[in-house]
Amino acid sequence: MPARHAIPQLSVAIVGVGLVGAELISQLLSLPQPSPFTLVSLSSSKRTVFSPSGLEITPSTWASSLSSSTSTLNLQQLALQLSSLDRAVLVDNTASQAVADLYPLFLQNGIHVVTPNKKAFSGSQELYDAILKASKESGARWLNESTVGAGLPVVQTLKDLVASGDKVKKIEGVFSGTMSYIFNEFSTANPGGPSFSSVVRIAREKGYTEPHPADDLNGADVARKLSILARSIPSLQNSLPAGYASVSTRSLVPSALEAISDGTEFVERLPEFDEQFDKMREEARAEGSVLRFVGVVDVEKGVVKADLERYPTAHPFATSLGGSDNIVMFHTERYSPRPLIVQGAGAGAAVTAMGVMSDLFKLA
Ligand SMILES: NC(=O)c1ccc[n+]([C@@H]2O[C@H](COP(=O)([O-])OP(=O)(O)OC[C@H]3O[C@@H](n4cnc5c(N)ncnc54)[C@H](OP(=O)(O)O)[C@@H]3O)[C@@H](O)[C@H]2O)c1
Ligand SMILES: *[C@@H]1O[C@H](CO)[C@@H](O)[C@H](O)[C@H]1NC(C)=O
Repeated sequence: MPARHAIPQLSVAIVGVGLVGAELISQLLSLPQPSPFTLVSLSSSKRTVFSPSGLEITPSTWASSLSSSTSTLNLQQLALQLSSLDRAVLVDNTASQAVADLYPLFLQNGIHVVTPNKKAFSGSQELYDAILKASKESGARWLNESTVGAGLPVVQTLKDLVASGDKVKKIEGVFSGTMSYIFNEFSTANPGGPSFSSVVRIAREKGYTEPHPADDLNGADVARKLSILARSIPSLQNSLPAGYASVSTRSLVPSALEAISDGTEFVERLPEFDEQFDKMREEARAEGSVLRFVGVVDVEKGVVKADLERYPTAHPFATSLGGSDNIVMFHTERYSPRPLIVQGAGAGAAVTAMGVMSDLFKLA
């Protein structure tokens, strides 16, 4: 056996080479050698490269090697190519529904799937069931750690709690880095404070929001993460037929602005609603609380909701969050009355790619 294959190799195909994908490539190529991974394919939405024995690339050459390729990506063909390899994994670093819809095909062909893309696991029950079935039949695994809390160990912690026989009563947390930043700035223990619209405008200027802030303020991202957590709890696995769309979600997009498709125009109109947000902030403060946009999976009551809630100023959601931190509290039979808490940066390419890497190591 050649020395560089002294340890069994997992063939890695990366689809999506944006912020997270590029960082993942750099983390993979920087691993101490010998590493258990062979990078066999890279794809953007336009181009693809594939070499069954491993791509000859370095951190400084992969991008030009991909952009000079004349092959366009065909996912069916990629599934075929990977199925002829001994052990292979598809890493989906896109936010594409079209890629997510094909996970059952990859899994059927014995190819593992690792992804930070929430689309497949938080959508329709049909797709989710097809993923479960394909994985069960072929033995190929799918891993989703970086879909919730980016690199933070949220999904694995939940899985370990469930597998070890603890009873999860309630999961409660700040799951959106953008909503975290907005409310950490907007609602503090001190009186007064900046207007809601100015906080959103600054968050957008700093690149913390989606280009159209309504895509954060509508709560859908939080609802998607909640449906992934709920489906990872056996008693709730079939409780959300339409995935995130079945989650009770409070949108912070004023209804009068719902039809505005331009992000800049949206931010310009938002000050019209500052008074309403001010009033909510003052009401919370009058009872010694702050506002936080949270997600709740209440297993005992069977409630899954994304909502704007009040928390006392001494609560960890009020005291311990900074920047765009995520925080997740697991209330369980064993972790009672004091919950298990996971907290830290919940967005950014470096930590998200690390979450993907941690899943890859589970397969290595
Ligand atoms: N960034 C974060 O902090 C973070 C945190 C947690 C989770 N995530 C998740 O990680 C994923 C990637 O995020 P990102 O920030 O890296 O996004 P990004 O920078 O927009 O990169 C997306 C990549 O996907 C490619 N792509 C899009 N549609 C495709 C398709 N149909 N087939 C093949 N490739 C396609 C794009 O190709 P082109 O370059 O050709 O357009 C691009 O390379 C998303 O699902 C996101 O929700 C991100
Ligand atoms: C997430 O992945 C874990 C395996 O790590 C699995 O047990 C769980 O069912 C998955 N959940 C979803 C919604 O995909």
